[in-house]
Amino acid sequence: MRVFSSHKELLKSLDSSKLVGLIPTMGSLHKGHLSLVDRALIENDQIIVSIYVNPTQFNDINDLKKYPRNLDRDLDKLKHYKDIFIYTPSDKDLYQEVISKKYDLDNLDKILEGKFRPGHFDGVATIVEKLFNIFSPDNAYFGEKDFQQLSIIKIMIKKLSINVNIISCETIREPDGLAMSSRNKNMTEEERLIAGQINKFMLKVKEIYKKTKIYKIPDNIIDDLKNLKNCQLEYFEIDNLSKYSSFLKDEGDRIFVACWVGKTRIIDNMTLK
Ligand code: PAF
Repeated sequence: MRVFSSHKELLKSLDSSKLVGLIPTMGSLHKGHLSLVDRALIENDQIIVSIYVNPTQFNDINDLKKYPRNLDRDLDKLKHYKDIFIYTPSDKDLYQEVISKKYDLDNLDKILEGKFRPGHFDGVATIVEKLFNIFSPDNAYFGEKDFQQLSIIKIMIKKLSINVNIISCETIREPDGLAMSSRNKNMTEEERLIAGQINKFMLKVKEIYKKTKIYKIPDNIIDDLKNLKNCQLEYFEIDNLSKYSSFLKDEGDRIFVACWVGKTRIIDNMTLK
């Protein structure tokens, strides 16, 4: 692996006549990220893993401060991938001024995560657009755990006519069903056990949906989730994001959930197909 903190230096080593795959990350890598790297390695000649905690997508400065960072551990996890480029920029290498651009994202940035994290998706779109413009990847890999983010990126590239294939990759889960996330390591043992229950609530809804095609999560299930110790629910909804934008394919209804377990914010989603 070759590590670069300057995009200009990285570009000098990249052969643009070959297929380039990009995996944007904010570090604190886990098996979910590594599954993206594995897939990208199969589908591209060269791959770039970016590791950058992007300040403009944090609407809460304390969240940005406590976002887990450990570059040495990340590089250790990637070291057995011989032929990959790692991009670990400073703010300066990406931003002249650390602010978001404003995007028209067909209002998909105003619901679910957007409602609870105002400005978040402008920040995500800003950094992802920058990375696409710098590296011109053929393929870019994102996890379905952030399904709304994935949809926002699909809208952004269509609106800006950026030529890249967005590859969505299945959420990787812990044995108890909790979606892998860099934030999981902030939880205490007790909180971690509670967080493991969230997946069971989604599976329960999926079972009911199969039989009755509900569009609203039954109140008793919402109440049970709210009553979990240490769990503060933000949303638990069924939606089909394709109804917000003509740039999205209809992938059917999904469950979306966000809650705080202790001081850790957890988001997840599941297809109801
Ligand atoms: O999903 C993430 O880790 C981030 O939102 C991303 C796509 C790397 C942009 O900073």
